[in-house]
Amino acid sequence: MTDQIQLIAPDDWHVHLRDGEMLTQVVAHTARMFRRAIVMPNLRPPVVTVEAAKAYRERIVAACGPSSAFTPLMTAYLTDDIAPDEIERGFLEGVFTAAKLYPANATTNSAAGVTNLRHIHSVLLAMERIGMPLLIHGEVTDVDVDVFDREAVFIERSLKSIRERYPDLKVVLEHITTEQAVDFVGSADRNLAATITPHHLHINRNAMFAGGLRSDFFCLPVAKRERHRLALRRAAMSGDKRFFLGTDSAPHARPGKETSCGCAGIFNAPHALESYALAFSQDDKLDRLEAFASLHGPAFYGLPVNEGVVTLQREDELVPDVVNGLVPFHAGETLPWRLQPCT
Ligand code: DOR
Ligand code: ZN
Repeated sequence: MTDQIQLIAPDDWHVHLRDGEMLTQVVAHTARMFRRAIVMPNLRPPVVTVEAAKAYRERIVAACGPSSAFTPLMTAYLTDDIAPDEIERGFLEGVFTAAKLYPANATTNSAAGVTNLRHIHSVLLAMERIGMPLLIHGEVTDVDVDVFDREAVFIERSLKSIRERYPDLKVVLEHITTEQAVDFVGSADRNLAATITPHHLHINRNAMFAGGLRSDFFCLPVAKRERHRLALRRAAMSGDKRFFLGTDSAPHARPGKETSCGCAGIFNAPHALESYALAFSQDDKLDRLEAFASLHGPAFYGLPVNEGVVTLQREDELVPDVVNGLVPFHAGETLPWRLQPCT
């Protein structure tokens, strides 16, 4: 049995770091194990300008402290009336690494998202021309579509047409949850990839109802049936470069989770890498973890692979019930891997 594994320093290609007091509480967890992270722009108000992204980046860097090696990669929040020039300028100036498409009202702080793809046609053309990745929350919001079908229907109704209309646009389908997404991304010849979260590798939809209503396992897209979880595990551990790590760590204060209309989001940042390592070791695929965590993402984004390594030691670690006042993923469980800091 392997007792220690070393990985090239990994990145998180999808995370919510929030702002203000919450930012100062959560960012150290991400910075502890990841060198870079794609930071989601769904703040209140959302990050829609180059200036707002620069200011947010400065707040993140300040919250990490002067000795941190962590680099936040910023994203723009697409709205119906966002100007293509602002998106293009932000990318060319090195402020925006990518832009995020939230279908309006699909998830947390997405009310200002896109109501119809035709509104962002010229933005997508510009992004295709300059090589700027489009990151997609892939769910339809139609009330007549079952919540568990929203991702599969989005692929049919929207993603296929995005791919046809903008074949040179780089697209990341974020936090995939279905075998339909695995199949669609896995059959793309180029310019399409997907991130996979640790929680979707570990839980299926039963987790939300185990012994009562468990809001700590509620996120969007919501976890699906077991066969989908197994498809995600196969994709993550396949060695296929179209699939890479994105935690979608999405902290919410406990009053926001523990209420009659709880927020979507799982806070997995404190033990994200250990959680992935557990999944990969359960399936005897630890030799595939480095590519998933540290190589496929940079290759897709056209960024250099990180220098330095992290070490995972086979050693039990109890995940606390509460971290910084928040309930972390795996709360109360003992994980068999312990992360040593970046060197
Ligand atoms: O569960 C989620 N939480 N999914 C999202 O898409 C957004 C995120 C959040 O910001 O809380
Ligand atoms: Zn997210």
